[in-house]
Amino acid sequence: MKLTRLVPAVADRTVAGAAEVNTAEIDTAEIDTAAPAARERLRDLYAPPRRRWLRLNLIAGVDGGARGPDGTSTSLSNGADRALLGAIRSLADVVLIGAETLRAEGYLVPRAARLAVVTASGRLVPAGAAEGAEPPGVLVLGPAAAEARARATLSDAVVEYAALPGTGRVDAADVVRELRRRGADSIVCEGGPELAAQLLDAGLVDELCLSTSPRSTGGELPVLGGARPRELRLAGLLADESGGFYARWLTEAR
Ligand SMILES: NC(=O)c1ccc[n+]([C@@H]2O[C@H](COP(=O)([O-])OP(=O)(O)OC[C@H]3O[C@@H](n4cnc5c(N)ncnc54)[C@H](OP(=O)(O)O)[C@@H]3O)[C@@H](O)[C@H]2O)c1
Repeated sequence: MKLTRLVPAVADRTVAGAAEVNTAEIDTAEIDTAAPAARERLRDLYAPPRRRWLRLNLIAGVDGGARGPDGTSTSLSNGADRALLGAIRSLADVVLIGAETLRAEGYLVPRAARLAVVTASGRLVPAGAAEGAEPPGVLVLGPAAAEARARATLSDAVVEYAALPGTGRVDAADVVRELRRRGADSIVCEGGPELAAQLLDAGLVDELCLSTSPRSTGGELPVLGGARPRELRLAGLLADESGGFYARWLTEAR
């Protein structure tokens, strides 16, 4: 699959507090996602403009729906989207997801980054290990009352449990604070929409990486989960030959 760059995605020098800005010249030619050099080129394009950075990485149909005919995001994705997902993950210290995404999508623990799951119920399912990443280590964040159940239901993983304040839903800001306390400066949240909306509404998101799959879905699950309206600024746009678009939106609209 070939990706063509439509809008420059040079690291944003105007982001407030940006200390480590990537000013390297970025190759504007097409990127063949099957080529060995693709990962490095995508990593260059997607290098965060500062060390402490929180991205959402989501995919939607053209109607904004977050799941395709199989009931998950898998049927919306393709090779180019997976190549970008891999590159974005490789730039993160932690991949954060909501428990429903783990339950629905049967997550594999990523090779390079840590997997963190937010839950109120503790009702999880086993996470598989990516090749070469055994045994899977998963950080679970939730109220203290959910710990025993989380450990029992995430049975195949080495579970670390971070008990956060509260007895049910925890505060999204506490989730991010706890990840940062554990050394995760660069965070990518891969959904689902419910968790994404809380991070957006709490003002914790720096960038939204949104893939648009060339199909409609029925739109019954909005990809941003009903987050409050806000302005965004386009920082980059790639397109693939099948009509898929890969946008980078900065939340600090100017
Ligand atoms: N298109 C995409 O990019 C994309 C990405 C990811 C997922 N998806 C799809 O989206 C669907 C799942 O998304 P979703 O929005 O329903 O769910 P989600 O955000 O993945 O997970 C929601 C669950 O996460 C836990 N949670 C969320 N916020 C919490 C908080 N503040 N405190 C404690 N726990 C919290 C709760 O788990 P408990 O119920 O355990 O308490 C809640 O039920 C699936 O169909 C999946 O395939 C699509």
